[in-house]
Order: sequence, then structure tokens, then C-alpha cells
Amino acid sequence: MEDKIKKIREELDNDIKDITDLNKLNDIKVKYLGKKGCITELTSNMGELSIEERKEVGKLSNEIRTYATDLITSIEEKLKLEELNKKLESESIDITLPATNIPMGAPNILEKVIEEVEELFMSMGYDVYDGPEIEEDKYNFELLNIPKGHPARDAQDTFYIEGNEILLRSQTSAVQARVMLEHEGKEPIRMICPGRTYRRDEDDATHSHNFTQIEGLLVEKKDISLSDLKGTFDALAKKLFGENCVTRFRPSYYQFTEPSVETDISCFACNGKGCSLCKNTGWITISGAGMVHPNVLRMCGYNPDEWKGFAFGFGAERCAMLKYGINDIRTFYNADLREVGSFDRKESE
Ligand code: DAH
Repeated sequence: MEDKIKKIREELDNDIKDITDLNKLNDIKVKYLGKKGCITELTSNMGELSIEERKEVGKLSNEIRTYATDLITSIEEKLKLEELNKKLESESIDITLPATNIPMGAPNILEKVIEEVEELFMSMGYDVYDGPEIEEDKYNFELLNIPKGHPARDAQDTFYIEGNEILLRSQTSAVQARVMLEHEGKEPIRMICPGRTYRRDEDDATHSHNFTQIEGLLVEKKDISLSDLKGTFDALAKKLFGENCVTRFRPSYYQFTEPSVETDISCFACNGKGCSLCKNTGWITISGAGMVHPNVLRMCGYNPDEWKGFAFGFGAERCAMLKYGINDIRTFYNADLREVGSFDRKESE
């Protein structure tokens, strides 16, 4: 028996010597310790042995079983550790590689322009108003001195909701009439109103059937003149386009202002020298404006002999496009996050 065990031990030592692989180690485990393994078989004929022999065989076979189990387990642990180290090495992180780019959010560029304008006007005592996008013909046209059939309506063709009376507002000027009526001809008004407007336009790089305007209205019992409007527009232009911005008025025509003007800023790209942005004129038109027409004051409850005012209105997208060098108005509505992110970078340059 002892010889047999000695042989098993030698054979096991030999088998296990050059093992480098867990699968092969498992084969060895089966060969020695499995159900039909040679160590298990040592005790298979115990029933035929005497008590003395049984004791002896039991003791010796237990010893060799413990020896084999310990040996195999220790090799198994060693191999597992080696395998883990190999895996860790192959999966090690190279910290010199560039990190994954996590896209950053950025403020909506249109909202940013609106907020800048609101901030400026609030600092000058203006209130910010909101008006309905679904509007009555009365406010959008008639109270603004544009009666039914007036050719000026052609340029502001819009979407009609119900018959000819309910429409999507084509201009935030509609809010002028609403605010004047709300104040019943008794109180001075300083208001701006940013909001969505609609026109039945074909969409292209500079036109959108839906865009944003910012309206302004001031009504006072004092002698308000174009120079007040000029100073106000100057402050707006400098706020949006920088302190070096120069402004000018050109005569124009709107039904709800008299006199009416187009307000221009000196081109910030070429400092007025002439370039492709300003179409070589050195000037860029920003808004329409003028002194509130006496008919409008009267229709909206203000006595034009006592009250005077100025009004202006401009496209927010157009300003944002100029400010941030965007050349297609559809950029604001196609929800491409790459575009929005780059505006933010530009701002911090
Ligand atoms: N509502 C005009 C438009 O959409 C812009 C405008 C011009 C607004 C003159 C005004 C103004 O308040 O006085 O074209």
C-alpha cells in the first residue's frame, strides 16, 4: 500500500510540475481526486479488509488525499492569479489617451439676445409684456392704422385661424394696441414685448414662416421726439453690438408711425468701410421705428394732442444672426446641437 501511495505521489508531482493551464489542472484533479480517480480508488475495496488494514489504508489514503488536494488547490490559486494579472495588464487604461468628449449644453442663442434686450430696457424703466400669438385682426392691423383692404397687408400675409378675424399675429406691434387700451389713455407706457410672429413666407436662409420680434413702445405726456428714439436705439445698438457701434436713421414708411424710419448700425465687421456683410454700404438695417401715429394713439384711447410716443420693432433672429455670424435663419429651428454649442464658444472668445 505504501509503495502504491508513493508511486501515486511521484506521479502526481510529475504530472503537476509543468502545468500552466487551468484546464489541464482540472484533468489532473479528476485523474487523482475524481469519483474514479486513483486516490478515490484506494479506498474502493475497504469492505474486504480487516479492521486493522482498514485503519491503515484509511490513514494513508487520507494523507495522500490531503496532500493532493492542497497541492492542486495551491497551483490552482497561483494559475488564477496569473490569469487575472494577465487580464489586468491587457485591459490597463492608458491615461495619456484623449478623454471621451462629453457634449456641454449652451444657452439658447435667441433667448440670450432677448434677455440682453430685456435687461437693457428694464434698466430704463420698461416693463416686459407678453401678447397672444393667436390674435384678432383688430389688434394686428386695424388699430395700427391698417384697415381692411390696405395694400400694406400684402407684405404681412399670415395664417388665418377662423374666417378673416382670427389669425396668427404677423407682428408684435399688435401688443402696442393691447397695452395702450389696457392703460385707457391715462398712464404713460414703457414696454417691450418679445414674441413669436408668423408670416406666410417661403422658408429660406433669411425668411421663416415663424420668427421672433421684439417690439418697443414708449408713450408720455411730454414732448417726445425722434431724438429720444435715436438715443434709445443707440443704447440698444451699443448693448448688442458693442460700444463702437454708430447708428443712423433713414426715412421710411409704416402705417402706425409718422414719421417712420429704418434704423441702421455701422457695420461691425468692417467698421463702416464696406464689406460683404453690409453689402458694401458700411451700414446694416436693424429695425423699423418711428413716432406713434396720431390715428393709432386716438384709436387706442390716447389723445394725440396731449400724448406722444415712439415705437420700434425688430427681428430677434436677425440680430442673433448678425451677432453670432449665423447665415441661415433655419439654424434656430433645426435643433442641431453642434450649432448651438459653437455659439457658446464664440461668446467666450
Ligand atoms: N411691425 C413692423 C414689421 O413687422 C416693424 C415695426 C416698424 C415696428 C415700425 C414698429 C414700428 O413698432 O414703429 O415690419
